[in-house]
Amino acid sequence: MGMSQLVSNHYLLGNRAPVAEEVTAFSLPVQGAVPAELEGRWVRNGPNPMPGTEDPETYHWFTGAAMVHGLRLGGGKADWYRNRWLRSNDVADALGEPHVPGPRFGGREMAPNTNVGGFAGKTWAMVEAGGTPMTLSYDLDTIAFDAFDGTLPAGFSAHPKYDAATGSLHAMTYAYPDLADRIQYVVVGPKGHVTKTVDIPMDDMIMVHDMSLTQRYAVVYDLPVTVDFELAMAERFPFRWNPDREARVGLLPREGEAADIIWCPIDPCYVYHPLNAYDDADGNVVLDVCRYDKMFDNDILGPFGDAMPMLDRWTVNPTNRSVSAERISDRPQEFPRHADGLGGLPYQFGYTAELNVGLAANQPTFGKTFKIDVNSGQTEAFDHGPGRGGAEPVFVSKDGCSAEDDGWLLISVYDANTESSELVILDAQDFGRGEVARIMLPQRVPDGFHGNWVPDA
Ligand SMILES: [Fe+2]
Repeated sequence: MGMSQLVSNHYLLGNRAPVAEEVTAFSLPVQGAVPAELEGRWVRNGPNPMPGTEDPETYHWFTGAAMVHGLRLGGGKADWYRNRWLRSNDVADALGEPHVPGPRFGGREMAPNTNVGGFAGKTWAMVEAGGTPMTLSYDLDTIAFDAFDGTLPAGFSAHPKYDAATGSLHAMTYAYPDLADRIQYVVVGPKGHVTKTVDIPMDDMIMVHDMSLTQRYAVVYDLPVTVDFELAMAERFPFRWNPDREARVGLLPREGEAADIIWCPIDPCYVYHPLNAYDDADGNVVLDVCRYDKMFDNDILGPFGDAMPMLDRWTVNPTNRSVSAERISDRPQEFPRHADGLGGLPYQFGYTAELNVGLAANQPTFGKTFKIDVNSGQTEAFDHGPGRGGAEPVFVSKDGCSAEDDGWLLISVYDANTESSELVILDAQDFGRGEVARIMLPQRVPDGFHGNWVPDA
């Protein structure tokens, strides 16, 4: 395209640059052996503006058109790779296709570009800030905007938490600019319909990316990134660091109402992603988070220009509302994951992507894959090699697993030497084994956001 050579917007350079084609490829080349028990799809969502549609002066990484990449594995083989733009109206118009059916909350044209995964028998793409989720076919074609069969009152989130005990999804949602005075806690039942909504009044319009869910509490991250009216009036990405605003976490008892929230002040910071959270034996709430000192202060085009995220443990005492913070790891890292069965429960291991400092065009955004013992801070690092970096590590427990870390890590790895991508599979218990499999993809997977393993069964 050449555009990326001409612009200084770092979120359009290197592997942040979009790809221009939708590709379908079968029987992909593999080095090593794909574990035969992996029967299903690895899917991943991220921003990918259509060629020529974004102004590099103002393009914000969070706002690009949505593109999902997917890889089907089965019988020890990599059957297919597909990447597809999700059909928001602008994408459909550009491709000469009819608009997809379904409701768009607030008349929004945004496609959900942040997460993709399976729930209630469907494949969902999701975003925050008032966007309506989309459902996708097995082959990643857009089916429709889908507000959980019309049960979702406003927007949703890209980071719902799955509660294995009830089969439900829990999300902290907001809708800019429609619901300026509140966020909403939304629970979606196992049949895919909203079963509960709690309005949480807010003085400001805050950006809420994620939440935590323990056995007792739904946790609100109320942090000082708020709507900046100058940016909003200019119709740019409107959220910015707000030094005048306090920061706090809120513990909403899972059966409670907004008035029951236990608000606990913390030092100003921003958190996109908690690694995990749980109630400890003393009645405290443990929150492990990737913490930034600041967000969208000087860098208003994306998240990586103001501070580097590091892994912290916050121990919240609901009785006296105190929060004690300790650093688990001071190595810059993001996109934390854990074993699926341990959400909201005590756990030992997290998996993250090292974040490289600076956003040079010839350097991958991400670096090594980390495995962290969150109790000791001890970190193992898998080095993907010179000029190579691994994005979000998706953990899949092995069949009949006997330990928390007895699983596979599925990682999109970008190679800046060849400007190509692979899906790499690691053995989470044995980094020394090297790559269990390297699946060569027919094109780059641009750095983006979140994905999941969706088993066929
Ligand atoms: Fe996220």
